[in-house]
Amino acid sequence: MSFPPGFLWGVSTAAHQVEGGNHNNQWSAWEAAGRIKSGDRCGQACDWWNHAERDFDLAQEIGLNALRLSVEWSRIEPEPGRWDPQAVQRYREMLQGLRARGIQPMVCLHHFTHPLWFEEQGGFLAPEAVQRFEQFARYVVAGLGDLCQHWVTMNEPNVYGALGYALGEFPPGKKGQIVTAVRVVKALARAHAAAYRAIHELQPEARVGWAHNFIVFQPANPGFAGDRWVAKLIAELFNESFLRLMEQGNLGFPFNLAERDAEDLVGTCDFVGLNVYSRFHVAFDLRFASQLFGHVFVPPHAPQGDHGVESPYGEAFPEAIRVAVKRVARLGKPIYILENGVPDAQDRIRPWLIVNAVAELHQLIQEGHDIRGYFHWTLTDNFEWSEGWRLRFGLVALDPATQQRTIRQSGYLYGAIARRNELSSEMIAQHFPSGVEPANRRLQASDCQYLWSRR
Ligand code: BGC
Repeated sequence: MSFPPGFLWGVSTAAHQVEGGNHNNQWSAWEAAGRIKSGDRCGQACDWWNHAERDFDLAQEIGLNALRLSVEWSRIEPEPGRWDPQAVQRYREMLQGLRARGIQPMVCLHHFTHPLWFEEQGGFLAPEAVQRFEQFARYVVAGLGDLCQHWVTMNEPNVYGALGYALGEFPPGKKGQIVTAVRVVKALARAHAAAYRAIHELQPEARVGWAHNFIVFQPANPGFAGDRWVAKLIAELFNESFLRLMEQGNLGFPFNLAERDAEDLVGTCDFVGLNVYSRFHVAFDLRFASQLFGHVFVPPHAPQGDHGVESPYGEAFPEAIRVAVKRVARLGKPIYILENGVPDAQDRIRPWLIVNAVAELHQLIQEGHDIRGYFHWTLTDNFEWSEGWRLRFGLVALDPATQQRTIRQSGYLYGAIARRNELSSEMIAQHFPSGVEPANRRLQASDCQYLWSRR
């Protein structure tokens, strides 16, 4: 399965998860308040602020040609209106370091974290938030624009809204405030659109998009109208709201009752970034009023990576890429898969996921979809938000205490695909001597264990 010349094979990362030493954003406050479920500390994370280049060497050694990172707003504007050129200088070194290694950078402006002062002003719901974010975007692009052409304004507005305002898993920890969550998503879209225009003003040739998290919500019993209805409602809210804002400037019924239309959002993206991980099953259940009466769960027999502190991470579901691509194709923009991965410390299921995701992508490109790159989440195990160090997503295993790194087998496999720009039968034979199961067979978790140990 060969890919088009210039296809990007990358990894994605985020500032707070890798840099270490971030003490001035709302996530460090969340950690200080004891809200990390595992009780872990972010600490020096992967120590990127001092030594990102060590991981860039690994990315090069593995054979990647792209890397997405994010810049930490709380370093660049530690107090309102006080800008730190040295922080930008460090990011310049990082981007230069990537380019020197033949790795194309993609920079994200907001990956869940922002300065504590911004949070204290009300976050994205504050009246001046859009203007503040636009100023930040201008400062970053003025400082880094000669080293980067691809910009991601926002990472996962839908996750930020849902986990921060409906499920209470992310700061500010609000629960059940669905209308507020919808307003937050709309506010993020306005900030995104302002940044989109500002970036183009400063750098006309820039390519600007956002990273959209897409989840497949499967009715638990497709024969039962209640399950179908609630799965559709949740999918509409989670998967479609931001897309609709980009496409037609409104949230669609009934969510548009909470927020006015905004024509000026339409078309403010040059590409769509997709972050795709999981499938969840949804059953209608009156006990889950705060979740629109949807009981969202993962059946125990579904193929999965490692379990979170309190709940399963999600069903590992490579076909989700197909579902997501089909949904966003209507925007008529190039597509990048900007995240895809699985928490899997033992690397028992990640190789299976990678092979099936790559096969899915190949097929979609054959069908005519304009997919320009695949970025695996992630390069080196990093600090997984509320789960801390509990969930390990890296192609490279990290011991955070010693900072020792070990490339996992999936890293070698992914690197072979990236270097050759293809997935070949020799690679499959080398990594899966007994063959690899196609994604559409319902794997048991025990199969996955077995599948990889047969190598
Ligand atoms: C986020 C990452 C996170 C990953 C794994 C994505 O939704 O963008 O920051 O680490 O999922 O949970």
